[in-house]
Amino acid sequence: MDRIEAAKEHFGKLIEEQFARIEKMKEEKEFIDYDSLDKVIIGVVGGDGIGPYITSQAQRVLEFLLDDEAKAGKVEFRTIDGLTIENRAQHNKAIPDDVLAEIKKCHIILKGPTTTPRAGDPWPNIESANVAMRKELDLFANVRPVKVPEEGIDWMFYRENTEGAYALGSKGVHVNDDLAIDFTVTTQEGSHRIIKSAFEYAKKSGKNKVTVVTKANVVKATDGKFLDVAKEIAKDYPGVEWDDWYIDIMTAKLIDPKRRTNFKVMVLPNLYGDILTDEAAEFQGGVGTAGSANIGKRYAMFEAIHGSAPRMVEEGRGKYADPSSIMRAAVMLLEHMGKIDKAEALSSALDKCGVYEKKYVITGREDGATGAEYAEYVMETLEKL
Ligand code: IPM
Ligand code: MG
Repeated sequence: MDRIEAAKEHFGKLIEEQFARIEKMKEEKEFIDYDSLDKVIIGVVGGDGIGPYITSQAQRVLEFLLDDEAKAGKVEFRTIDGLTIENRAQHNKAIPDDVLAEIKKCHIILKGPTTTPRAGDPWPNIESANVAMRKELDLFANVRPVKVPEEGIDWMFYRENTEGAYALGSKGVHVNDDLAIDFTVTTQEGSHRIIKSAFEYAKKSGKNKVTVVTKANVVKATDGKFLDVAKEIAKDYPGVEWDDWYIDIMTAKLIDPKRRTNFKVMVLPNLYGDILTDEAAEFQGGVGTAGSANIGKRYAMFEAIHGSAPRMVEEGRGKYADPSSIMRAAVMLLEHMGKIDKAEALSSALDKCGVYEKKYVITGREDGATGAEYAEYVMETLEKL
């Protein structure tokens, strides 16, 4: 078949898939209510490299904090294996079917880092497990806080997590050797749910300010739509101040100490959110210090946003890997479950252990504490609070 015809047919299929996705989004209106469940199932997915080492330590701390709930049968932890690059490569799938089926039986996922293949790697160039998980579980809101109290920085990012450049990131077309085309997707429904979540948060948290970030002056159809939806939603929140910025100048203003403290809640399409949240996390000590919540209406997943550090494991240093960022993700998990006191306790224990007291320090090597020792230190600290 002619290459142009093949590309057109491919494009047609993509549109059909997106229409089907929109219909599914429209059906799922309500957020799950954990209180109405007999039991909340928390799946612990280790992932690759240091992932299983650090997630198991975060799980110990969570089990310690949720001991009463677990004994009463209200919470159950499940370890889910198989989200490793070897297993994914073997099945040639971002998430092997049996692993996905186990994940879907849970309500909440705590996930370690997973290797993202790229061209030239020894693995097939399959889709990122992260991206696939966000799509499969429809985790549309990637919520990433960044705080540097001494500098007045208190930001909350609402990154759209299922659309934009990521939706069809592995479905672009190589028309021929001269031409490759990718697609970016913005839907009314998808923009609405993320922007509304950001405005709701701004209102509830008392931050009362939302900044919408796009490049709508250039990327007119998709970013233009995102901005139009924001304008509509803003009308429903008269008490919440809002403004809109383009991603380029926004990236610059984030490093301007006089301006950056004015930003509170930011909502942005997927790729801009990916980039800006890495920049933002750098102010608080780098991506390794940040936790990230991926929230959908039925499922929620909490993860560290650093990599899987395969070399540490190859060199036998897995047990020295730092679990503090996945424990920060565990704080967000507790908050999301409505366990606000426990979330606050864990957050202050982590501050005490990692920032102020530092009785055990993780260096990633033999001269530092192991992840297990660190978890014990966190639990002792929790007991003394
Ligand atoms: C993140 C990561 C992922 C992303 C990668 C691992 C696919 O950078 O969570 O920000 O691009 O979303
Ligand atoms: Mg990223």
